[in-house]
Amino acid sequence: MPDHRPILFFDSGVGGLSVVAPTLALIPDAPVVYAADSAGFPYGTRTEAEIAARVPALLGRLVERYRPRLVVIACNTASTIALPAVRAALDLPVVGTVPAIKPAAAMSATRVIGVLGTEATVRQPYVDDLATRFAGDCIVLRHGSAALVEMAEETLAGVPPSLDRIGTELAGLFSQPQGERIDVIVNACTHFPLLEGDMAAVAPTGVRFVDGGPGIARRIASLTQGQDWPATSPPGRLVFTRLGERERQIAAGLARRGFPVAEAL
Ligand code: DGL
Repeated sequence: MPDHRPILFFDSGVGGLSVVAPTLALIPDAPVVYAADSAGFPYGTRTEAEIAARVPALLGRLVERYRPRLVVIACNTASTIALPAVRAALDLPVVGTVPAIKPAAAMSATRVIGVLGTEATVRQPYVDDLATRFAGDCIVLRHGSAALVEMAEETLAGVPPSLDRIGTELAGLFSQPQGERIDVIVNACTHFPLLEGDMAAVAPTGVRFVDGGPGIARRIASLTQGQDWPATSPPGRLVFTRLGERERQIAAGLARRGFPVAEAL
């Protein structure tokens, strides 16, 4: 029996696309609802209290409306702050996004890792905990960037990113003590893999990037293993919490990526 229940991906903006892509590579028939909290964007400059109050309530409304089989919080900021509260509030599986410090530690030869996230994510105790547990013998340097989040959004709206500005943001890691030894950068914000080609172009030779997308996709595939999917995959649905001019420009970019329909929550 075809099961039409979608997977609901949630982010403040377009970053969650870096999680949708590897998921659809594993489960091409999955119906997808992509929800962007454009009214709350950006999350990275908000307080913990604001995010903790906003995200579980919003996901409750989205689940009521779209009846998904699984929710993916495709946002490091929301996950590192609100994942336990969301899980407690919803009666269905919830997959979160956490900084890929463990795979980065496995890849690093120099034992110096850079964690690039939002300002809110890089200050979370959760990140300290991951560094202690999985990268105990590494120096873990962090930098929070709101500019990269903006640039990723602009790219989707058709504005190419400035390599100079990307270089300035990466310097936030490389200019720290021991920063010149970084050989792996964790993209600890789901927006950043959307700029990875440009970041790689300006980063020192040999620096590699890693993010949580592929691991989350494997987790989603494992949680939905054995479930039925629709016979033909329906077009993705895009939902914004505010649908204004900026969102319409982004929606036009997303129409070319499998999301022809945009609606407001
Ligand atoms: N994409 C989000 C993350 O992974 C947050 C971006 C923002 O709204 O600041 O952290």
